[in-house]
Amino acid sequence: MQRVFSGIQPSGIPTLGNYLGAIRNWIGMQRDHECIWCVVDLHAITGWQDPAALRRQTLEMAATLLACGVDPEKHILFLQSSVRAHAQLAWIFNCVARIGWLNRMTQFKEKAGKDRENASAGLYVYPNLMAADIHAYHATRVPVGDDQRQHLELANDIAKKFNFDYGVDFFPNIEPMILGPAARVMSLRDGTKKMSKTDPSDQSRINMNDDAETIALKIRRAKTDPEPLPCEVAGLEGRPEARNLVGIFAALAETEHTAVLRDFGGKGFGVFKEALAELMVSRLGPINDETRRWLDDESAILRILRDGADRAAAIADPIVAEAERLVGFIGLRPA
Ligand code: AMP
Ligand code: TRP
Repeated sequence: MQRVFSGIQPSGIPTLGNYLGAIRNWIGMQRDHECIWCVVDLHAITGWQDPAALRRQTLEMAATLLACGVDPEKHILFLQSSVRAHAQLAWIFNCVARIGWLNRMTQFKEKAGKDRENASAGLYVYPNLMAADIHAYHATRVPVGDDQRQHLELANDIAKKFNFDYGVDFFPNIEPMILGPAARVMSLRDGTKKMSKTDPSDQSRINMNDDAETIALKIRRAKTDPEPLPCEVAGLEGRPEARNLVGIFAALAETEHTAVLRDFGGKGFGVFKEALAELMVSRLGPINDETRRWLDDESAILRILRDGADRAAAIADPIVAEAERLVGFIGLRPA
């Protein structure tokens, strides 16, 4: 069975983009893979986080993942900072990856923005830590949204260079699993920008904990153009907002763009948005309720995360110890 790894940052409330682009695909993979799901708190602090907020968001993220259907018994759910192997392997990868490779990362350029001199060094080497997350488990499949494609290519470049530099065949190639009609959910205010949990405008996104009324309002206010929906997918060309909403509908209805346009082609956005809001509420409402039930029992969440950390470390520690031996470290540990 192939081993799967994926992670999500607890840097805010998870969004519809996280759900449709990633989490929902995680759940599907649990059927026929050995899965390791990680709340990546080390990644979250590449941008400053209020410590109390980070704690709360970490628990909320774990609760949301459980509510979405992550199975912590057959699979593993844990916090990145609980397993030391991630940071240990990341250091080795900092010394394998080339600065030229990191300079090409579009996410760094976007997140660092104009004030690049003032970005944290952690933000710069973020992709090396992400590569370590995956390779510490010899995972071979990684379900992510489309925005992570470049980081996974880098993770493969790092594995290849490590194997070459040390004359081994130790880290396997990984296969990105970028699935479904909503692998890149866009902002509700601007169809050319990714929906993000850290966008300053709350109107730009659907949060997984938004109630029915908020969802309906945000969808009603979502930016669109004045034309009715096209009857063919080709008609979405040059209409990013329309394409985005149709993709979201398709993902929620578990179908494709074509099927949605068969039903709504020629109709105006008023009708379509109403149907979309109703569908969204019917899908997200139960997850929201279940998340709240989990959050009422914080100690149950902590038990799951502790057990997950034990099982994750049992896989990662020997792999990272072997990587250290290959590098030439003697590997003495404090008694
Ligand atoms: P992050 O929120 O950056 O930790 O991302 C966690 C996962 O959600 C990754 O697999 C991302 O690719 C995915 N993701 C985040 N935002 C979106 C989006 N707007 N559309 C699709 N997938 C997304
Ligand atoms: N960088 C990813 C994101 O922001 C999150 C992440 C960290 C991840 N480590 C990972 C995803 C390992 C997949 C595998 O979306």
